[in-house]
Amino acid sequence: MPNTSPSPTPIPTPNNVEKSLNDLPRARFWEAMDICQWEGYWFEPGLVKPAITFRSTFHARNDDILLASTIKTGTTWLKSLSLCITQNRQNHKHNDILTTENPHFHVPTIESMIYSTKPTKIDIYDASSPRLLHTHLPYSVLPVSVKESQCKIVYIARNPKDTIISMWHFFNSIFRPNQDPFPLEKAVDCFCSGVHQYGSFFEHVVEYWLESQKRPEKMLFLKYEEMKRDPKGEVSKIAEFLGRPFGDGEVDEILWRCSLDRLKNLEVNKNGSILYNVPNSSYFRKGEVGDWKKYLTPEMEERINQTSRSKLEAFGLFL
Ligand code: A3P
Repeated sequence: MPNTSPSPTPIPTPNNVEKSLNDLPRARFWEAMDICQWEGYWFEPGLVKPAITFRSTFHARNDDILLASTIKTGTTWLKSLSLCITQNRQNHKHNDILTTENPHFHVPTIESMIYSTKPTKIDIYDASSPRLLHTHLPYSVLPVSVKESQCKIVYIARNPKDTIISMWHFFNSIFRPNQDPFPLEKAVDCFCSGVHQYGSFFEHVVEYWLESQKRPEKMLFLKYEEMKRDPKGEVSKIAEFLGRPFGDGEVDEILWRCSLDRLKNLEVNKNGSILYNVPNSSYFRKGEVGDWKKYLTPEMEERINQTSRSKLEAFGLFL
């Protein structure tokens, strides 16, 4: 007789994690690096193990703040603003944390800490409360305790056409510094088919969007374009959501401290590198809404619009 009882769930050991990592589907990204597919998303292979560890060992506290985003959607800006909102509000004129290190040092991206070039200030497990952390991981793979505790999540999304153009500049500078840029048509193809770091972009964004609609008290969903259009209103919204509303004049001060021009010109961001092979300066470019119009052909634009219609707008999300 066939055995119909369910087979027991294998206990993950370092060996079978390694083995199952080797079995993950692989693809080539931009003819420059391998990426692998885990839990439906594509990752740089070195990030999967830290992601698994984070998922299985991290215990969220009720006063944690987790920032989340996919890549090139305004993460650096959100990290800077959240730092200023949560820390050092009384004394910032004399002790401006943003002048001491790049924002990615102060607010580490949990799964990529293995690529830090210097010991990070925060031990994510031991740091004193309230912890301010960031992840690029999709919502579906976050630790259960993040979802079930009262910790707050702030997600930033961006228009897909500006996101791909920002990615294209970023990866060209990293992978092809002295070569012609990667053909944009192929980059758009990777983007729309979801085969890129933390892709699919569309699924990443929509997962967080749907969750923020269900639990607005838990998750604040921000749009980069809204932050550019109404910075005071949006930044005040973040401060209120995090239970740290602004006093008089504070919002202008924080917006200035976190402005792209200012951050770009700080010594800590002009030089050095917080993550291996990623110069600090590469996080700061133009920050323009609609920059894509200078690059995308009507065909590329239509391809992205079509993907947006079916993957975002069908769920009520317009970016
Ligand atoms: P562009 O490439 O369009 O200029 P991330 O931080 O997620 O990597 O996103 C990078 C994008 O955010 C880049 O967009 C970058 O210029 C922009 N950016 C970085 N810091 C910013 C800031 N302080 N204000 C507004 N945009 C910022």
